[in-house]
Amino acid sequence: MEKIETLRWLGDADGRLALIDQTLLPVAFEEIELTTVEQVWEAIKKLRVRGAPAIGIAAAYGVCVGLQTAPAEEEAFFVRFREVVDYLAGSRPTAVNLFWALDRMTAAAEKQRGAPLDAIRAALLQEAQQIHEEDRAMCHAIGRYGADLLTDGQGVLTHCNAGGLATAEYGTALSVFFTAQDLGKQLSIYVDETRPLLQGARLTAWELTRRGIDATLICDSMAAQVMREGKVQAVITGADRIAANGDSANKIGTYSIAVLAQAHGIPFYIAAPTTTFDLAIESGAEIPIEQRASEEITHGFGRQTAPDGVKVYNPAFDVTPAEYIRGIITERGVIQPVTREGIAQLFAST
Ligand code: MRU
Repeated sequence: MEKIETLRWLGDADGRLALIDQTLLPVAFEEIELTTVEQVWEAIKKLRVRGAPAIGIAAAYGVCVGLQTAPAEEEAFFVRFREVVDYLAGSRPTAVNLFWALDRMTAAAEKQRGAPLDAIRAALLQEAQQIHEEDRAMCHAIGRYGADLLTDGQGVLTHCNAGGLATAEYGTALSVFFTAQDLGKQLSIYVDETRPLLQGARLTAWELTRRGIDATLICDSMAAQVMREGKVQAVITGADRIAANGDSANKIGTYSIAVLAQAHGIPFYIAAPTTTFDLAIESGAEIPIEQRASEEITHGFGRQTAPDGVKVYNPAFDVTPAEYIRGIITERGVIQPVTREGIAQLFAST
């Protein structure tokens, strides 16, 4: 099957960023090419590229794009560098991968101070490509650890899209399903449509069906019924930011699924790379939750479905407390039980 490349860098340091415009899926598969940092910012903000690891990679390449027009004198070049990084950091607040990638680009730039500006640009492109490559490898490793947790014939529920489209390749939660399939385990995946932007229906259902994995789409509100009917034996989702105590932010609706899973005695797992952990924060209470435009709810996909002037609340993410999470599947192994100590131990073990 043809591999999908969520993001691609075309050319050298003076090149451009190509990415799949995810807002058009599943109806149209189109790649767009971005040549300015404003276009990269817009693509992240509008969810043309989305998913925590993918927006980190996009931001790293966005720095390369933004520096193409930087002044030729070192001090001014670094002023522009800071402006580009701060600008990209303002695109979306919740996924820590974005800030992690920008920090890595900043460290790479600082290391090059004093070098010719062309060499700095080349080093920054190399760093962005390295971030991209590392994510690919992490996703495959997550798949291998996660697949061990599932057995042939099981039903698994997932929410939002934590697939190849949300990462460099393969995904986090979906990587677990793809790897299980490669190992000969037949799974039935229940896909929450994921209101209001339908990442489950538009993206996850698309990724699973094109790989021939048994996928059943449900409305978010059907999860409890599906659990009560015994259709799923596990839940696996991705994450956007995981605090030092294991509290995990993910797409709005994830928390309610975790509570439901607990009520039905079904294990709830998070699959995420170590780049999604924010050990600088103690708990999920410190995770900034992105608030999005009310039109996403009142005029979903262009059709008005609520009366003019109605008040709307539209948080894009929620936080699942660690006690609801059976395990966190990372590229270095599974943290189980999810405790502050278990997380610290995993990070200390490198
Ligand atoms: O608003 P989105 O589509 O960027 O939200 C994405 C999610 O919540 C994903 O589950 C998360 O980023 C993990 S992606 C591997």
